[in-house]
Amino acid sequence: MTAQLVDGKAFAVQLRSRVAGHVAWLKEEHRITPGLAVVLVGDDPASEVYVRNKGRQTIEAGMKGVEHKLPAETSQADLLALIEQLNSDPEIHGILIQLPLPKHLNADLVINAIDPAKDVDGFHILNVGLLGTGQNAMVPCTPLGCLMMLRGHLGDLSGLEAVVVGRSNIVGKPMAQLLLRDSCTVTIAHSHTRDLASICRRADILVAAVGRPEMIPGDWIKPGATVIDVGINRIARDGKQQLVGDVDFSSAVEVAGAITPVPGGVGPMTIACLLANSITACCRVHG
Ligand code: GUN
Repeated sequence: MTAQLVDGKAFAVQLRSRVAGHVAWLKEEHRITPGLAVVLVGDDPASEVYVRNKGRQTIEAGMKGVEHKLPAETSQADLLALIEQLNSDPEIHGILIQLPLPKHLNADLVINAIDPAKDVDGFHILNVGLLGTGQNAMVPCTPLGCLMMLRGHLGDLSGLEAVVVGRSNIVGKPMAQLLLRDSCTVTIAHSHTRDLASICRRADILVAAVGRPEMIPGDWIKPGATVIDVGINRIARDGKQQLVGDVDFSSAVEVAGAITPVPGGVGPMTIACLLANSITACCRVHG
């Protein structure tokens, strides 16, 4: 058996086009241009690529995109002052602080300084609490993109056995909350989990978000399962740089019913969801 590919690029094209439609409507009918500010502190090359892509796609959707690039040695006070300024800027509806931040900055404090209504990453403690209690939260982009693909591929998720490997605040924990909200039976596995292989083998839905290249082999996957690979790992193979996921694609594709490729799976949906969250934030402010 060869798994069907879950085409994140195609899902993202559809979502971006819906977003662009909303933007056009907001501009024409309400004279409002949704605005997204992205803040990058330091010069981490991977973060620079992500931020550039976010900025480009924001503009392509017809939104206002503002990029703040700050030096690595920026003080906490200066960063908080910028956030305060963005919080009170009526033309900015969404604020994203690119993570990771340099070590001398307190990421929790910085994130919780963002106006929760403009927290398009869904990382503010208020949005985390709203999601955890099943209320109207801003939902983190990567897990939201994964959920959209799962629903698009499987339809109703209720009663399915879901295993999330990874417990980060950015992906693992919110992913588990979203699957629970869709009535899956959810297990969160992590680096201390015993017999990870047999836990993964139970999964109708397996979400891998550990950041370890090709850690999950095909024989940990239940035949026919839907596999969402969140990992984006750069490795050197045959003298070349290559992007691989957390799942060993070549063996997994023989067992799974459906699988997201890396690249071209989860990645494109993350930015599309960021744009969608920015529209949500804009519409909430303007009723
Ligand atoms: N770094 C890696 N993923 C993310 C994300 O989803 N949001 C932000 N702000 N930073 C990240």
